[in-house]
Amino acid sequence: MAFTVAIDGPAAAGKGTISKAVAAAFGFAHLDTGLLYRAVGARHLLGEDPLQAAKSLTADDLAGPNLRTADVAQAASKVAVLPDVRSALVDFQQAFARRDAGAVLDGRDIGTVICPDAEAKLFVTASAEIRAERRFNELCANGQTTDYKTVLADVKERDRRDSERATAPLKPADDAIIIDTSELDIEAAIKAAIDAISVIRDAK
Ligand code: DC
Repeated sequence: MAFTVAIDGPAAAGKGTISKAVAAAFGFAHLDTGLLYRAVGARHLLGEDPLQAAKSLTADDLAGPNLRTADVAQAASKVAVLPDVRSALVDFQQAFARRDAGAVLDGRDIGTVICPDAEAKLFVTASAEIRAERRFNELCANGQTTDYKTVLADVKERDRRDSERATAPLKPADDAIIIDTSELDIEAAIKAAIDAISVIRDAK
């Protein structure tokens, strides 16, 4: 039976790691919807019209090697402001969400716009400073040269753009369970998410 878990939140709050762990725990498929916007952003950086890119995304685009860079993250956040780009990506996400085996989608607008009827909705957040520290460590581990201040400024700029846009802004759904990971290590955050979803699932 279809069971959709919507996991939203700002950049680097831990939702990617939590989503993967939730998918593994319940045997659900996982879609990182940020990758769709990153793939469109990456093609736009190469000169392509964002809407054309969104309409013609392929699996290869989602496997691109440079999608995790800071430049692509900012480009993704910019193309994500465009309502037509967002519309072009809706059907794919909704079809993924309703697959029979169950699905976890993480992003910014999953619980509010893409899957307002999702059985479980989580909003994973943390302070901007903590998120920037995590992202900084991640970028360094991937061999990228940067500094904490730049990463913090990037995180805040992306938060502002993602939250203030008119179409599908970043915000918790009214019925989302909020998990603040500022004071949690990753194991505790994963446990909080799995426990919350288990309660909902057992009640179905
Ligand atoms: O989750 P991420 O950092 O990979 O997302 C990159 C950008 O894509 C993010 O800053 C905003 C946009 N995005 C969005 O607007 N809606 C989503 N569902 C997922 C990502």
